[in-house]
Amino acid sequence: MRTQVPVDAATVESLLAAAVAAPSIHNTQPWRFRLDPDGQVLEVHSVPARTLPLADPVHRAQYLSVGAAVFNLRLAAVHHGWRPEVRLLPDPYRPGLLATVRLTGPLAADEQPRDLGLHEAITQRHTSRMPFTGRPVPEPIVAEMTAAAHAAGARLYVPDITGTRRLLRLTAAAEARNHADPDRVAETLAWIKAPGANTPYGIPVTALGPPDAAARVPMRGFTPGLAALRRPALWFERHVQLALLWTGHDRREDWLRAGQALQYVLLTATARGVRTSLLHQPMEWFDLRTAMALPGHRRCHPQVLIRFGYGPDGARTPRAAGRIATGSTAPATDTSRN
Ligand SMILES: Cc1cc2nc3c(=O)[nH]c(=O)nc-3n(C[C@H](O)[C@H](O)[C@H](O)COP(=O)(O)O)c2cc1C
Repeated sequence: MRTQVPVDAATVESLLAAAVAAPSIHNTQPWRFRLDPDGQVLEVHSVPARTLPLADPVHRAQYLSVGAAVFNLRLAAVHHGWRPEVRLLPDPYRPGLLATVRLTGPLAADEQPRDLGLHEAITQRHTSRMPFTGRPVPEPIVAEMTAAAHAAGARLYVPDITGTRRLLRLTAAAEARNHADPDRVAETLAWIKAPGANTPYGIPVTALGPPDAAARVPMRGFTPGLAALRRPALWFERHVQLALLWTGHDRREDWLRAGQALQYVLLTATARGVRTSLLHQPMEWFDLRTAMALPGHRRCHPQVLIRFGYGPDGARTPRAAGRIATGSTAPATDTSRN
């Protein structure tokens, strides 16, 4: 049953604050929000200007990022006692409208979710690019992360040592190619921000991590060639714990689902005290992304690689405040293919 009760301004503000805390590639924050006139449907739009034409030409990573924000919106709506109804790509004539979240009414007493600490984890989660301790994450927590991906419509593959080496090798190959491509280097550098930079977008240099002294973990080197910004190498964990997030199809809605699944996995890990960082480099080269697929699996579309473990928390990265676009016209639409 639909209620006519509009959502109050404070709740909307709180929902948007949750949404924008989501991770996004290079902290591009490629989302924009609009509230329908009856105050019950939040529209989530992509922002064409905040894309990475070389690293993400079909906007797959952008959709993952927006999907993560949609997951936070859902979680925050439930936290505030609202039942969210999410539709992905609801209007074929508005390709930049990636999702709507309709708040269909207050949750009934028997619909209240068990508190798993996920809502609190929204603000606690940061990408940690530092070395982890190597202490294995217990199997029940890994199982919870896997179940989270599954519940959101994606899959999580946690490889054994041989599989881990294979994924690290492919990631290292992608990282080397990225460094050898001056245009890609320039594209990435444009999103790296010096201390005191007056922008909420992009990654501050303070949030970047060191390279692995053993060259075993191919963390993204965001500033290749800039000796002044190079951090001294540190020894990373010997046994890297990785999880490959993948989907059975590779359509725009699958990318949005994968983004929601990604965020569900990251928040589950965070709520259990596990740190995470993402390795997306191999997804940025067609042949390497294909090679990342599970061997023998015809329908495995890799979306992103998650590194997880115990260690220091990541640095805080700024956000632009989530604002509602006003007026009846939709924000500029995304005209990318797919
Ligand atoms: C699709 C996607 C791909 C990402 N790829 C990488 C990556 O390759 N390397 C990395 O260090 N961080 C990666 N990140 C993390 C973002 O840089 C990070 O989310 C953003 O800077 C905001 O910081 P926060 O996660 O600490 O809030 C990725 C995030 C998303 C959503």
